[in-house]
Amino acid sequence: MSSSGRTALVTGGNRGLGAAIARALDDAGHRVIITHTPGNDKVAAWLDAQDTKGYRFVAYGVDVGDWESTQALARQIQADGYHVDILVNNAGITRDATLRKMDKSGWDAVLRTNLDSMFNVTKPWERPPSCARSATTPAIGSRHGSGTSWCRGRKRHARCLPLAK
Ligand SMILES: NC(=O)c1ccc[n+]([C@@H]2O[C@H](COP(=O)([O-])OP(=O)(O)OC[C@H]3O[C@@H](n4cnc5c(N)ncnc54)[C@H](OP(=O)(O)O)[C@@H]3O)[C@@H](O)[C@H]2O)c1
Repeated sequence: MSSSGRTALVTGGNRGLGAAIARALDDAGHRVIITHTPGNDKVAAWLDAQDTKGYRFVAYGVDVGDWESTQALARQIQADGYHVDILVNNAGITRDATLRKMDKSGWDAVLRTNLDSMFNVTKPWERPPSCARSATTPAIGSRHGSGTSWCRGRKRHARCLPLAK
């Protein structure tokens, strides 16, 4: 990590698009914190593999759909001495199905994991009204994701990264 680098938090950064984003942010000179689901027993081996490639990620387990879990994550990150400058809300699930085949539990899981997570994970890192520091919060979602600005009425730092299927 270069001395000018900032600290990025990438949810779901242990695989898929999140892992690619995490590596790209590291390549760009930022310290990268990734999250995975609690109890994921493959993460230690994955971190070791990344380490051999020169990627030294900090990792935490969290359920992004759970308010308490995400607040505990934020407290732990701060207690460990990190300040998040870049937040990539990437963690999510896919339950593609027609309305006929989608059941209530699948619907609830998608909303909880893909939508509630945006509020849960972003909220602890909101800035005071003065918005003295810039921050970026891209949201990774299917087709029409949503970005959250920390600074209403000023420069909009958040970006939406829709991924067309
Ligand atoms: N790939 C695509 O073509 C595509 C298209 C449209 C949208 N997207 C969206 O882009 C994002 C990444 O997609 P992907 O294909 O890279 O996904 P992926 O390979 O399935 O990885 C999902 C990541 O999210 C984490 N995660 C899932 N549920 C979680 C929860 N409740 N709490 C915390 N972490 C959770 C997973 O952690 P574990 O590994 O611990 O389970 C994993 O790191 C998702 O939001 C997805 O909906 C992807």
